[in-house]
Amino acid sequence: MKHAYTYEGALAAAHKVNWRIEDVIGGRQLDFRKPFLPEGLARVNPLPFLSGDERRILNQIRGHEYLVMFGLVEEFILPFVLDHARTRLDANDDRVRALMQFAGEEAKHIQLFKRFRRDFESGWGSRLDVIGPPEAIAKKVLSHDPLSVALVILHIEWFTQKHYLESIKDSQDLDPLYKSLLKHHWMEEAQHAKLDTLMVEALAAGYSKEEIGKAFDGYLDIGGFLDQGLVQQAKFNLESFTRATGRSLTTQEENQYADVQEQALRWTYLGSGMTHPNFLETVEMLDPALRRRLEEIAPTFC
Ligand SMILES: [Fe+2]
Ligand SMILES: [Fe+2]
Repeated sequence: MKHAYTYEGALAAAHKVNWRIEDVIGGRQLDFRKPFLPEGLARVNPLPFLSGDERRILNQIRGHEYLVMFGLVEEFILPFVLDHARTRLDANDDRVRALMQFAGEEAKHIQLFKRFRRDFESGWGSRLDVIGPPEAIAKKVLSHDPLSVALVILHIEWFTQKHYLESIKDSQDLDPLYKSLLKHHWMEEAQHAKLDTLMVEALAAGYSKEEIGKAFDGYLDIGGFLDQGLVQQAKFNLESFTRATGRSLTTQEENQYADVQEQALRWTYLGSGMTHPNFLETVEMLDPALRRRLEEIAPTFC
């Protein structure tokens, strides 16, 4: 079924849910006795050689990675949305305001993720390495066709919805402050997903079928580029784990870790977006053959 998203509707919804950073934090601190990410994303339980405490620590390292990854992708979402808004400032007042609201919220999210990252790192006690720098990753992503980038952003907006609704919302054991971050982020991202659908449609309207196919290849290229980063990040996470716990794994355990965790990161940032029904619907609207292609590729990332 075709969606009924409008700039006016997204703007009205954004005004209703808009929050301040203080609303998310509310004077609380991260509680390192609790897990941060739901098991559906963390996938630490399929590592039976780790104790309960060690699994919690790995879960928290994944929680830190989640903050870093959002900080990183929002670094390219913000300039992209601003550039897109600028192309037609005189066409539709609701469009301009809704896109400026979108950009303003992403700037706030960048600030919020940074704040959480700082608080996390000051409570952690050992070094946490991460991929980057974000500016270099943003530059590489933004060097692609705008429609490729808009598809990547749409994919991200929709997986944020999936993460919250399918894994986070009903998880009762998570640290309440970290969960509050995920909830507030989800609330605003719901509007972004709709606006990004409109961005994809507006861009694609000027493309031939062949150009759309090329832009879709660009989307897959960016996915491949991010995938390499995720494999590296899974390695960094293991090093952070060893530093935090003093435990080094046997070769067999390390191999098992790599199998489980590389796939866990793939699912979190790639597979969960590629399989979102609304993302698939937009891809189908561009060209039904592209949806079939995506559905064939997606299981590798799930
Ligand atoms: Fe965001
Ligand atoms: Fe967003």
